Order: sequence, then C-alpha cells, then structure tokens
Amino acid sequence: MSIEKTSVYTDFTVPAAQFGSHLSDLNGCRAYRMSNQCAVEAEASRRIPRRDSTHRFNRQFFISASAWWNFATNEPLYISGPAGAGKTSSVLQWCAVVGQPVISVTVRPGMEKDELLGRWVANDRGGMDWVDGPATLCWRHGWLLLINEFSAAPAEMWVSANDILEGAPLEIDSTGERVERHPLTRVVVTDNTRGHASEHEAGYFGRSVMDLSVIDRFWHIRLEGLTVGEEALLLWKRVPDDLRARLPEKEALSVLTALADIAAASRKAAAQKTVGFDNRNHPLSHRALERMTTVLLRYAAGDIVLDRESQLIEWVVELGIANALDAVPRTALVTLVGTRLGQLAETLKRESARLQKSAPGASPRSASASTSASNDASPEGANPAPRSGTLF
Ligand SMILES: Nc1ncnc2c1ncn2[C@@H]1O[C@H](COP(=O)(O)OP(=O)(O)OP(=O)(O)O)[C@@H](O)[C@H]1O
Ligand SMILES: [Mg+2]
Repeated sequence: MSIEKTSVYTDFTVPAAQFGSHLSDLNGCRAYRMSNQCAVEAEASRRIPRRDSTHRFNRQFFISASAWWNFATNEPLYISGPAGAGKTSSVLQWCAVVGQPVISVTVRPGMEKDELLGRWVANDRGGMDWVDGPATLCWRHGWLLLINEFSAAPAEMWVSANDILEGAPLEIDSTGERVERHPLTRVVVTDNTRGHASEHEAGYFGRSVMDLSVIDRFWHIRLEGLTVGEEALLLWKRVPDDLRARLPEKEALSVLTALADIAAASRKAAAQKTVGFDNRNHPLSHRALERMTTVLLRYAAGDIVLDRESQLIEWVVELGIANALDAVPRTALVTLVGTRLGQLAETLKRESARLQKSAPGASPRSASASTSASNDASPEGANPAPRSGTLF
C-alpha cells in the first residue's frame, strides 16, 4: 500500500506522571500530535502501541531515556540487558505514552540491509511494485524504528547500514530513490549484549561482536529488570480478575514474592558465570515466571487437578522452563524452587480451598494485603522489597 507523506504536527509535553506516579517529580517528555488530515494518519495510529497500565517504568531508565528522547538529534539509542528485562516492552510503552508510531523488527543471522529498505512485489498487471520496508517507512513518516536482537545480524550488515544508524538519507539502489529522514524519525535497538567480545560468551550464542564504529554511534542504556517487589506485584496485577477473586491475596503474594526472589537470584548467579565453566544456573526470565504463576495459581484455585500433588513444584518448573534445559540446570532449578516454594504453595492451596468453602461468593481478599496490591489500573504505590540475591 502506498501512503502519502506525513507533514503537519504540533509539539507538546507529556508530564512525567503519565509514565507512572513514582516519576511525577521529574520533567516531562516531548511528544507530538500529527494533523488529522491525511490518510497516513490511520496507518500511523494503528502503529501507536496500546498502553499497558501494568507496565512499570524503571526510574533510571525513564531519566536516561527522556534525556535521549528530548535532546538527542540524529543519534540512535542502544538498550542492553538480560532477556526479559523489559527492553522491548519499555520502548513500546514509551511510544504508547508519547503517541509515537513504531515499527518493530527482529533481526536474524544472515539478514541483509535491503530487507530494512524494501522489496519488489509482483502486481496483478504482470509488473512489479516497490514496497517500502521498515526503515524507509519510518524515514518517510517520522515513526520510530525499533530493532530487536541487534547483534543477531552480522556485524558487517550494521557497518553497511550506518546511514540508518546515523539518521542520514536512505539511498535505495533498487529504485534510485533518495529518502530524506523525517525530523521525528527515531531509531532504538535492543540487545542482550552490549556488543562486546566478553559478553559474546554470556550464553547468547549466535550473536555477532559489533564493530566499535557501530557501537560508538549510539546513546546507551542498561536495563537490568524489575526489583523483587516490583516483579511480584506485576505478576499479581496480571492475574485475570476471575482468578484473583478466588485467591487469598496475602498468601498468593507470598508465593509470587518467593518466585520473584528466586528469579532475581538466578539471574544474578547466571550473570556471574562464564559459559562452559559452570552451567548450573539458568536465569529465570519474567516470561517463565508468568507461566509458572499461571499454573501455580490455577492449581491453588482448583482449576487444575494433578495426579500426583507431591510433584506440584517439579511440574510447575518443568512446564515453565525446565523441560527445555539440560539435566544439571534443570535439577538445580527444580530443587531450588521446591525448597523455597514448597511450603508456601501448600499454604496457598489450603487457604484458597478454605476461603472458597467458607465464603462462596464473598471477596476472599485478605485485609492485611489489600492495600499493598490493589487491583486498580495504576502500577504505582508498591513498596518494592530489596533484591535478595542470597540464594545460589
Ligand atoms: N518494567 C516492566 N513492567 C511491566 N512488565 C514488564 C516489565 N519488564 C518486563 N516486563 C514483562 O516481561 C516480559 C518480557 O519483557 P520484554 O519483552 O520487554 O523483555 P526484553 O528485555 O525485550 O527481552 P528479550 O531480551 O528476550 O527480548 C513481558 O511480558 C513484559 O511485559
Ligand atoms: Mg526484546
């Protein structure tokens, strides 16, 4: 589909509080609103991510990202951090708050720069039409180009794509066109590594070590992930309402806090290891925690029945991630979670059953916990517990 060029827009400022009440003392961010006059508007609106009220912006991330957003000119932003730290979702949620259309691409080994520029496709008249690729669309219309897993693509590709990283006009050899960059176009890349040789060994095989001239072109933000308290609260807020209403909040939060604590410790331990030396510790990602939370809480509420209840934890961990691991890290993880969680999970199951039996239809939320994790739309108001990091 060909869409005309975006032209008219007005600048305004989004208060920092819109990113979360814990940021309300900070300065706001540039944002803009496009004129509502051209067809590209419909396409642009479709590309503004939907706001997720449970997303919590890390304070340091917000400060650094808004410095880049407000004051960088053509330079792109490089966000590094462990898997599941919130790199991609933080960028998408940023765009949701400031109203920025975004095209998100995930690169892969063997990728060529032309894939970012566009391609010829057959038309029904027996000829070929040029279709803009992600970079060209962003250049024309002032959208944000989000490139995930940056170092999965060959280092040489990025060297040849310096025009994209520098915000220079795009020269499209296939059509002979030169596409000037719209003043609102931004580029963000995310990656598990910082592109350094030392991190090449950090478990992310198949990654390219980046040319320093490429890395030198970016602003850099490191995102480590949520604190234990934030992660536990996030898990709880994402529990569907119908399930949450059937669980005792205090006991459920104890289980989720223990899970988040185990995950924090596992990530810390894994980050300190060199591949090939000791692979006992697998870093538990937030995605794995969400899966484990789903089955644990569904089990506690009676929505899942097991043949062998004594193997609950083993089953939860295996279903969440451990079945994908080798025997050693798998056993280590099952043992660790079992030791930390076994008792808490039993208590949760018992209390859930008691609540459902004694007060059918009544709200089972425990008074002691209802202020700490309310089911409102705001992700704020939590009192995050410190990372423990004492396990392993
Ligand atoms: N700060 C946060 N607030 C809310 N949810 C978060 C946050 N950080 C991570 N998540 C959740 O964790 C999951 C993984 O996040 P995301 O995809 O952003 O991680 P990532 O750092 O891009 O990981 P990867 O390196 O694997 O691409 C998503 O479900 C996301 O919503
Ligand atoms: Mg990502």
